[in-house]
Order: sequence, then C-alpha cells, then structure tokens
Amino acid sequence: MSNTYLDLLAYFGIGGAHPGGFSLTKSILENENIQPNESVLDIGCGTGQTAAFLVERFNCQVTAIDNHPIMVEKAKLRLKKMEAPVKVMEGDVQNLDFVDNSFDLIIAESVIVFTDISRSLKELSRVLKSDGHLIMVEMTAEQHLSEEKQRKACNLYGINEILDKEEWILRLHQAGLTQVEMISTPSGLIESEINDINPSKNIHMDLYELWEEHNKFMLHNQDLIGYRVFKCCKS
Ligand SMILES: C[S@@+](CC[C@H](N)C(=O)[O-])C[C@H]1O[C@@H](n2cnc3c(N)ncnc32)[C@H](O)[C@@H]1O
Repeated sequence: MSNTYLDLLAYFGIGGAHPGGFSLTKSILENENIQPNESVLDIGCGTGQTAAFLVERFNCQVTAIDNHPIMVEKAKLRLKKMEAPVKVMEGDVQNLDFVDNSFDLIIAESVIVFTDISRSLKELSRVLKSDGHLIMVEMTAEQHLSEEKQRKACNLYGINEILDKEEWILRLHQAGLTQVEMISTPSGLIESEINDINPSKNIHMDLYELWEEHNKFMLHNQDLIGYRVFKCCKS
C-alpha cells in the first residue's frame, strides 16, 4: 500500500529517519553486547544507516530489509560503497521470508507503526531466536488524543492508529514477546536531527509541501506525540 510520508523519506533519502535519529541508534546499540557470529535483522532499514553502523561497529551478520524499492536501492548503494557485507533485500515485515528462530537481534526503528502492528509483531516474534532480543523505537501517544488529532496524525503519517506505551506493551505481550523494558533515552537528545541525506533527482513539489506540513504538525503537537524505545525477548 502506498504511503506518501514514507515516499517523502525515500525520495529525500533521509537516514536515521526515526525520532532521536542516529545519535539514539548509536546510544542504544553501544549498550548491546553484539558478537561477530550473531545474526542481526534491521527491519524497515530505510537507507541503511543503522545496518552500516552495525556491521562496522560489531562486525556481525547483518540483514537489512525494507519494502520500499527506493529505500532498498539507496541502502544497497550505501553498503556497496562501504564494501560492507550486509544482505539488503526487499521484504515485508508482515510476511517475512525467514524460518522461525532466525535472528539473535532485531532492530525496528520507527517501522511497526506504519504496518498492521499486531501482525508485524507476531512475525518478528516468529523469526526471533528464543534467546534473542527485539529493540523498537516507536511513536507513542503521550496524552489522550482527541478523535480529530488522531485522524490528523494518522492521515499525515498514513498509519491506522497511535498507541500509548501501555498499548504497545500489551501488543508485544500478545505477540508472545516478554520481559518488555523501556530503554530510557539520553537527556539532551535532539528530537529529529537530520544529517544524512541522499535525495533523488526530480522530487515532486507535493513532497516538499508534506515535509512542511509534517514539521508544523510536530512543532504544535510535541507534547501529545512522542516516542519510546522498547526492548523485549521471547523467553
Ligand atoms: C520512518 S522510516 C525509518 C527508516 C529507518 N528505520 C530509519 O530509522 O532510518 C520507516 C521505514 O519502514 C519501512 N516500512 C514500512 N512498512 C514496511 C513493511 N511493511 N515492511 C518493511 N518495511 C516497511 C519504510 O519503507 C521506511 O523505510
């Protein structure tokens, strides 16, 4: 299904396209003890910034998947330039082409909210090893959202629902994921720093307008809509 907000990120080629950006990614992953023989899935990898970091920093076995062809193309280009041994593939988090118990670590940075949340979490739980971990950065409602606000945000991002932190934890549990912890984010973190872009040629004006609209919406609603980092496992 097409999503204009995700097209915007893809055409502009924005890396670290999640709240907290790449600084958050590094601070989360630096606390993980990832071994070279471990298999890591970066699901909804976007332009591949996190996948590149994972392989450079930990020399682990990285697979990067996204369902947007332009994202996949840009991620492949980045990783080829770096000569980084990362498998980059087009795929859908709701229906992954991997056998059960495939990955030691799965990272999903601002991805699941754009999908059928329950279905994606079930699928990630299936491909996660029984002693593996899932880390997610996801959008959260930080206060009760009026119906109008919900509708505006859902239209803007092309999503079905905005969960609060308790609802995320419930969905994780329902998908068979346990020991859910919320990783606290570093203080002083910039909400959305953008310093990694790879724009396509001939970006449609509508996408510039959507970007403006998005920035305005974020500015006016930063108390209502936030994000959380969740870490959980299967056992
Ligand atoms: C907000 S962007 C985040 C990209 C990347 N994780 C990052 O932080 O830069 C969301 C990404 O999820 C991808 N995505 C959305 N739905 C997906 C699905 N069903 N399967 C795989 N990837 C998906 C989008 O194409 C996009 O690249």
